Amino acid sequence: MSLRALIDNERVPKHIAIIMDGNGRWAQEQGQDRLFGHFHGVASVRDIVEGSAELGVKYLTLYAFSTENWDRPEQEVTGLMELLVETIRKEVPILNKNNIRLHVIGELGMLPDHATIALQEAFDLTAQNTGLNLVLALSYSSRWELVSAVKKIAEDVKTDKLDPSAITQDTLQQYLSTSEFPDPELMIRTSGEYRISNFLLYQLAYAELYFTQTRWPDFRKENLYEAILDFQKRERRFGKTSSQIIEGLTNN
Ligand code: IPE
Ligand code: IPE
Ligand code: MG
Repeated sequence: MSLRALIDNERVPKHIAIIMDGNGRWAQEQGQDRLFGHFHGVASVRDIVEGSAELGVKYLTLYAFSTENWDRPEQEVTGLMELLVETIRKEVPILNKNNIRLHVIGELGMLPDHATIALQEAFDLTAQNTGLNLVLALSYSSRWELVSAVKKIAEDVKTDKLDPSAITQDTLQQYLSTSEFPDPELMIRTSGEYRISNFLLYQLAYAELYFTQTRWPDFRKENLYEAILDFQKRERRFGKTSSQIIEGLTNN
């Protein structure tokens, strides 16, 4: 039986964020080149995007390439960029068919021109879609994002567009690259690493974290269902006590 049937459809997370890790190890365990793992990771992306859309998830953020990943061997970086362009081009019709809108967060100026062009085309072609919002974190790191936000805030203060005493948590949120999206409720990391690796540090403040040993190229819809079921068992307290949460539930 699929775990799908056990999921409470009323409590599916609105926003899931995933650190897709373990492609390199998956390939090396089979005596293959790391790029072979990235290539197979694309099949998982396809399956998880489809699975999320079917469940009615509104936002899916996938960490595809970090600022720090630019320091990998040149051959791996070039291979990843080519894979990105090829995949985006190929997937646009499928995104449209499934009413999925593509977004990207990250320092796009760092990407090669052919990647920026392919991405821009994909944004334009999917802009009208109203189903799942697929957010690719590309050349992204949270510290880069926070520094960019601080610079923009400082600029707006300097030009009198912003009064420092009026800055709230909402103001800061509006300066982040994720300003259009709610915070993730569930963050999944594959491949057995228990760290955040510079991903959405501010936005994950109250996310439920789920770690699995499964390598990204082996991660499929059933693994996603398992993560969601685990999420649905948790009590999210946001600093309150357990009895306050239970009272809140019975009063509603
Ligand atoms: C994740 O897999 C994909 C990217 C970071 C681009 P890795 O390439 O990090 O695979 P491992 O962690 O070395 O196995
Ligand atoms: C995080 O994975 C980045 C992505 C999945 C894109 P890494 O493999 O780069 O992270 P570390 O180096 O193990 O922390
Ligand atoms: Mg890794």
